[in-house]
Amino acid sequence: MTSSRVHSRTQIAVVGAGPAGLMLSHLLARAGIDSVAVDLRSRREIEETHRAGILEQDSVDLLVGTGVSDRVHRDGYRHDGIELAFGGGGHRIDFQGLVGASTRLYPQTDVFTDLADARRRDGGDVRFGVSDVSVGDRVSDAPVLRFTDADGIGHEIRADFLVGADGSRSLCRREIPEGARTQYFREYPFAWFGILVEAPPSAPELVYNHSPRGFALISQRTGSLQRMYFQCDPAEDVGDWSDDRIWHELQSRVGANGHVLREGPITSRTVLPFRSFVQEPMHHGRLVLAGDAAHTVPPTGAKGLNLALADVRVLAEELERAVARGDTAPLAAYSERALGRVWKAQHFSYWMTTMLHTLPGATPFDLRRQEGELAAVTGSTAGSAYLAEAYTGWPGGR
Ligand code: PHB
Repeated sequence: MTSSRVHSRTQIAVVGAGPAGLMLSHLLARAGIDSVAVDLRSRREIEETHRAGILEQDSVDLLVGTGVSDRVHRDGYRHDGIELAFGGGGHRIDFQGLVGASTRLYPQTDVFTDLADARRRDGGDVRFGVSDVSVGDRVSDAPVLRFTDADGIGHEIRADFLVGADGSRSLCRREIPEGARTQYFREYPFAWFGILVEAPPSAPELVYNHSPRGFALISQRTGSLQRMYFQCDPAEDVGDWSDDRIWHELQSRVGANGHVLREGPITSRTVLPFRSFVQEPMHHGRLVLAGDAAHTVPPTGAKGLNLALADVRVLAEELERAVARGDTAPLAAYSERALGRVWKAQHFSYWMTTMLHTLPGATPFDLRRQEGELAAVTGSTAGSAYLAEAYTGWPGGR
């Protein structure tokens, strides 16, 4: 009931307290701008959701350089390359040698924990486990955020600007009228089956495997916990997969390229859908979208979290201008700046995906052509350098 709500004001209301929402509120606080961030999920629910694990150099610099935490340097593993395995063997892409950059293996859940701790340390206003979130009906010119907090108390917060950092099923995105935006989609006829395994690492760096039975990725988490994925049908039921069946499938795919996996108990199994999506522009009136709310990429290029962090770095700058000037022009500038990078990442993620996965009904020609493409990429400096630059992240926030 509206009458019993607690009314308050802030400068920026943020829907979504995942990495994008929290990093934004952290950056805004450093610029002296107040915000409130809310999330339907509890902190524990977010921490228990397994997500991707690779950070670009710029993402690491953002976490460390803005004082979130230096744990990424202590606990993250520096990777100076990846292996592309196909046609019976492995081919290393040497990031350092090609573009002088590295990535860090540091899971998204750790990024989230660092950010949530930093917001708490700095007295940030973050409310987890809220319900009944809605945004005001005239969100385009008078943003209002309504929700019920974890103690059952209703709130109505007026803000200068509203940010939808609320993930791929964004509620905020739906507030932008159809006539004011364009949506771009691409579906893929496969998904990833992801597992966590209690075992020592099977490889020192990530191995992206192309094989006649389909794609498989060897990734890691720690010295005793590993992450692996294999291409599957989007409708696959995890209940149909015993540990034995999973190991047989994974071993045959990576075995085709000379790898042998160290097995152990499988502690988590999930099917991850694949989708490419962009909504343009990323703003409407005083509402602005960031991260997965505005765009999603398939996980093959490890770009999702990095794009979200790149968005909010630009968004914080433009919101600072918008607050100072009291107008919305900087939001259009944000959208334009962010979309440049988003579309490069869309292409890269699509390219990695189609180069490495087997399409249902693929002919022997299709498989051999993919191997030819992979040989062209790994066999020349020019071919490898594009991959290395895109994977480690285009420099300078662009
Ligand atoms: C992961 O470790 O979860 C991971 C790594 C690389 C990807 C996707 C996911 O491309």
